[in-house]
Amino acid sequence: MSRLVVVSNRIAIPDGTKSAGGLAVGIVDALKNTSGLWFGWNGEISEISESEDDDMSVVEDDGITYASVPLNQNDYDLYYCQFSNAVLWPALHYRIDLVDYQREAWEGYCRVNDLLARRLLPLLKPDDILWIHDYHLLPFAASLRKLGVTNRIGFFLHIPFPTPEIFNAVPPHNELLEMMSHYDLLGFQTEGDRLAFLDNLGELTTLQPTGTYMHQAFGNTFSTGVYPISIAPDSIKEMAEGPLPSKLAAMEQELREAQNIISCERLDYTKGLPERFLAFEALLEKFPQHRGKVRYSQIAPTSRGDVQAYQDLRHQLETEVGRINGKYGSLNQTPLFYLNQHFQRSLLMKLFRLTDVGLVTPLRDGMNLVAKEYVAAQDPKDPGVLVLSQFAGAANELTAALIVNPYDRDDVAAALDKALTMPLEERIERYNDMMNVLHKNDIANWGDTYLKDLNAISTHSIDHD
Ligand code: G6P
Repeated sequence: MSRLVVVSNRIAIPDGTKSAGGLAVGIVDALKNTSGLWFGWNGEISEISESEDDDMSVVEDDGITYASVPLNQNDYDLYYCQFSNAVLWPALHYRIDLVDYQREAWEGYCRVNDLLARRLLPLLKPDDILWIHDYHLLPFAASLRKLGVTNRIGFFLHIPFPTPEIFNAVPPHNELLEMMSHYDLLGFQTEGDRLAFLDNLGELTTLQPTGTYMHQAFGNTFSTGVYPISIAPDSIKEMAEGPLPSKLAAMEQELREAQNIISCERLDYTKGLPERFLAFEALLEKFPQHRGKVRYSQIAPTSRGDVQAYQDLRHQLETEVGRINGKYGSLNQTPLFYLNQHFQRSLLMKLFRLTDVGLVTPLRDGMNLVAKEYVAAQDPKDPGVLVLSQFAGAANELTAALIVNPYDRDDVAAALDKALTMPLEERIERYNDMMNVLHKNDIANWGDTYLKDLNAISTHSIDHD
């Protein structure tokens, strides 16, 4: 069996202190089968001006090799902060109003993709299969092809792909599409994303509409497919069932006595946090019976704090929380808890289990694993209710959630009221329905299906000039 090589911007190097997140667990499982290699940025910024040669760290753990390199300050700014997170991230989430493009950032993005490809090259073996992840690395196959690499290379996009009206706003959109056509298999979260990508290609030949679809564009032949990413429901259930740390015992009692809504995500404008705060306010306004009885906890650790749009959002949220608590709080209760902090994953799963409603209302999201985790963390005999945005990829699968339009605060407020008053029987029915979906397509199935398809692409159809 060929060795699997995974490349992603960030890699989860085991350090014995942190438990790996769900995606990392899925990737590690796939890598273990072939004693694979995981390569990427180590999350550090190096002092030297050219990130080259003697700064690669290689760690072996449980049969897997982790190879990582730092970026220098200029590359971090241009490739990570600017082009990846101030151009591609907003544009691919349909927020072209937030795109902040500079030609220098695009050049930096291409340069770092070339640099990472050069750093990976000496580690590659002729029959390795490569699996590249996410929007930071759209040009990575093209960078490797320039170096003469002919291995099979797959790509998975974790975030949405927009329609041409949106993507055309990214100045080098054609160059990006051409670069993506050097992959052998392009995987998307939903059929909508896959079709939007094909729409962007305009004139293309689709050769074989079976299983994965095969296409020709820019003189390259590649396949596309849909692989909704998922979670390991049994391990989440296990984490959720464990006891809370003893110092939180009093809080557990409080949580059990009140009705609780919980949300948790990186502090990101795609997640619809200000809109959600207004929806919670609308719940208190329009359904006064819940006042003083319901508590909403929003956990939102800072993310990409060096990017302006993220700093702006943080200030906006801080103001809104103060305003809503000022209006609806009382001397002995606070309706909205906003925690700009990182929580341990296993503690989060326990909190999910103790709460009545999981409120997950992104304005646009590739999949949203928190929605899936919230469901898997529930007590099967007394499950909470998931309120889910129609614009999360997860809404295609978790159809038994209460699906809402996050732009419509009255719709979300009504769904919250429905969730807070839903009879046990209906909660159990919806929970069972969603758990069936999660067991059918878990994280292992996601990785297996993608890699099976990548392996099945016949080499003679791959034509890299
Ligand atoms: C999203 C992206 C990932 C990224 C993660 C955290 O889930 O799809 O590629 O790693 O956010 O963002 P960060 O910028 O901290 O890596």
